[in-house]
Amino acid sequence: MTALLARGVRRTFEAELAPVRALRGIDLQVDGGEFVALMGPSGCGKSTLLNIFAGLDQADEGKVVVDDLVVSGRDENWLARFRRHHVGIVFQFFNLLEGVSALDNIALPAILGGLRRKAAESRARDLLDLLGLGDRTEQLPSVLSGGQRQRLAIARALVNEPAVLLADEPTGALDSEGGAEILELFRRLHGDGQTILMVTHSADVAAGASRVVRMRDGRIDSDDGVRVGPAGSAAVVEERAP
Ligand SMILES: Nc1ncnc2c1ncn2[C@@H]1O[C@H](COP(=O)(O)OP(=O)(O)OP(=O)(O)O)[C@@H](O)[C@H]1O
Ligand SMILES: [Mg+2]
Repeated sequence: MTALLARGVRRTFEAELAPVRALRGIDLQVDGGEFVALMGPSGCGKSTLLNIFAGLDQADEGKVVVDDLVVSGRDENWLARFRRHHVGIVFQFFNLLEGVSALDNIALPAILGGLRRKAAESRARDLLDLLGLGDRTEQLPSVLSGGQRQRLAIARALVNEPAVLLADEPTGALDSEGGAEILELFRRLHGDGQTILMVTHSADVAAGASRVVRMRDGRIDSDDGVRVGPAGSAAVVEERAP
């Protein structure tokens, strides 16, 4: 299974002074079960690449495959369905629905994903239990700690059983304890077979991943190329020069 594939991906943003070439030819493949940390200096294109895999933005050139589906060149309707069913997206600042309970933050996307309310609530409860929020179901996100809010956002991202979890600096807004807790959760999910691509600026967080890919100026700069499956079996399938 090809979880994520980018071939010759380019993305340029129009700007007032000069166009910004955010992605200048990205080639990257992530197999099912990998936990990849995506690193690199601010502005190198990490979020742009993640958003393209997430179906939130489109490449100008190149091929993008997610969960064996070609994502490049699709219209907005197709992308909306794709986002609901194939990827789970986690952001630095949570993006929760502030006016509804923790339970509904998870149940509503499940209903949009096709579950009936009862089944959606039951699945939401299971996920909240799993993520240590079982006693918080009726609370509003605003009364939760940063770490709890991020766990809620992760539960929401997982509710429709996405093939890939895409996270953009998920520990960036948390203190070190909250960050460590979220990393531990990602490691547990990876242990259960979840494929993860996570942008991070933290070497400590990246050390918890099974593979580290670095970008610079819109290109892949280095890739340690070691792919560790869910069972922990390390196999070097390809190596690129750092
Ligand atoms: N919608 C946009 N319009 C114009 N320029 C953009 C847009 N999105 C990103 N850019 C530019 O593209 C480049 C890459 O941005 P991107 O957000 O992908 O960087 P990043 O690696 O995620 O950085 P950071 O670590 O600061 O989050 C930057 O120069 C940025 O200013
Ligand atoms: Mg970014």
